[in-house]
Amino acid sequence: MCGIMGYIGEQEASRIIVDGLRRLEYRGYDSAGIATLVDGQVDIRRCVGKLDNLEKLLRDRPLQGAIGLGHTRWATHGRPSEENAHPHRAGKVVVIHNGIIENYLELKAALESKGRTFQSETDTEVISQLIDERMSEGLPFLEAARATVKQLHGSFSIVVLCDDDKTRLLAAKTATPIVIGLGKGENFIASDIPAILDHTREVLFLEDGEMAEVSRDGVKVTTFDGEPVERAPKHITWDPVTAQKGGYKHFLAKEIHEQPQAMIDTMLGRIRQEEGDVALPELDALGLDWSGIKRIYLTACGTAWHSCLVGKFLLEEMTRIPVDVDYASEFRYRQPILGPDVLLIAVSQSGETADTLAAVEEARSAGAKVLAICNVVDASIPRRANGVLYTHAGPEISVASTKAFTTQLTAFYLLSLYLGRQVGRLDEHRGRGLVADLVNLPSLVQETLTRSKQIEKISKKYGHASDFLYLGRGINYPIALEGALKLKEISYIHAEGYPAGEMKHGPIALIDEQLPVVVLLPKDPMYPKTLSNLKEVEARGGRIIALTDAPSPELDEVAWEVITIPQVNHLLAPILLVIPLQLLAYSIAVYRGSDVDQPRNLAKSVTVE
Ligand code: AGP
Repeated sequence: MCGIMGYIGEQEASRIIVDGLRRLEYRGYDSAGIATLVDGQVDIRRCVGKLDNLEKLLRDRPLQGAIGLGHTRWATHGRPSEENAHPHRAGKVVVIHNGIIENYLELKAALESKGRTFQSETDTEVISQLIDERMSEGLPFLEAARATVKQLHGSFSIVVLCDDDKTRLLAAKTATPIVIGLGKGENFIASDIPAILDHTREVLFLEDGEMAEVSRDGVKVTTFDGEPVERAPKHITWDPVTAQKGGYKHFLAKEIHEQPQAMIDTMLGRIRQEEGDVALPELDALGLDWSGIKRIYLTACGTAWHSCLVGKFLLEEMTRIPVDVDYASEFRYRQPILGPDVLLIAVSQSGETADTLAAVEEARSAGAKVLAICNVVDASIPRRANGVLYTHAGPEISVASTKAFTTQLTAFYLLSLYLGRQVGRLDEHRGRGLVADLVNLPSLVQETLTRSKQIEKISKKYGHASDFLYLGRGINYPIALEGALKLKEISYIHAEGYPAGEMKHGPIALIDEQLPVVVLLPKDPMYPKTLSNLKEVEARGGRIIALTDAPSPELDEVAWEVITIPQVNHLLAPILLVIPLQLLAYSIAVYRGSDVDQPRNLAKSVTVE
């Protein structure tokens, strides 16, 4: 989710590029850089940290020129450092990139075998090296770039500048956005609309598999194969703040709808469909004998803790290793039994949560192995762990965690598959089925997101309630907890999640005509039992909102609302079921007028105990 900005025209490129990147600061980043072309030479400035550092660098060492590109990096491969910051140069070619190159390791090995040396740990540098390699073999700039993008696998958008060509910038994309701003005698390239709104509202959107030659006087769009593409410009009416949210009213809505892409990015490079396996080289590198692990502890806080409750089901189902789940704030005070045959998995979106970091330190000091699942490269928790499995959700701006949660569940599914194969508990045949279900999941999430209009109506009917009860069973009980937390956090309504089977041991006393009861009811082996729990609620006047993949007349008789989700492998049902609950919490919060992205009393990362 990096920020990209390119400019070609008559003005000073560096100022326009830095201002454009500043408009993209909401995307989050940990390093920045810029390059401009003057007198046949591209010059680069890069730094770690915020744009202020880059501006200071430019004051000390200004960049001239009316053509250039700039980048703010959200690290996915390689820690935040000047060497890993973009732009990346190879010979005459300078590249900036957003996304993940899935096959960069094999491309890098092939280039190294030709004697090429690399300056960074990034997948991006492979792109500049490939283009320069082709130019050194005699291909012109455009053809060298075209040949290169056809070799890249994964989700990417790139902008390329060449020492030898002051007449144009090249842009190309697959899954991550590229927008071209159309000016008079000047043109702009960006990863998002806010970066160019100060200059123009006429834009062209590149589609997947397309390249653009952007010169001062025009833009030529083709497919990667060189087929011309005719595309009419669009006029943007958004104000800059709305544009930062991708046209959504809140970052939370944007991040809920980004989940399919976030899951795809978290799977990229890790799926081995034919072998029914997943590739986690970051875990191979630990050199651990996984069959020596006799117990796994999962620890986290808040929403991340809910992902651990689901992770327990996934890990025990696929590895048959006993798994315990602890609140991080409780873990180190209960004298946990730790040792070299114990694996602690610490889950954290920010990687800075104090309680979770303290649990990691406790486990490390007791000789246990620690694996982090984290969304921020090089944060404190991954740095203190033995190894890390990064989620690639991109920056999560809204305090309430959504895409981080579903990518944590994706990471647990990948990890369980990996460990299940490593310890010999999962055979290739079953692995192939599980992998296929995961690969298909983002499209089912996309389909579930289309329920948002129905859920908006439901939120207006029940948004005035003072209490909610969420019920779920088995692997979906944690989703009842997560749905309740989402509602509490952003609408300030008191909400509880409970195991459906436990309801008659107390919470049933809460049931009356004022109490909305959200029941998670996938057609799994526990469906009949949960349906009878639901009838107990209905008999006492509870206002039932049922989520199911198996709508039926019987269900319609007892439920006030039925929200349907697509059918899916029961191990993946939690990821689908949480989507309507996120949308419900969001719509109710909007209905009640609370501060959706910055709820009262809450912080995005709780760095104190
Ligand atoms: C979730 O919506 C909350 N923002 C909060 O519970 C959060 O999940 C918790 O503080 C853990 O944060 P972390 O994932 O950054 O460690």
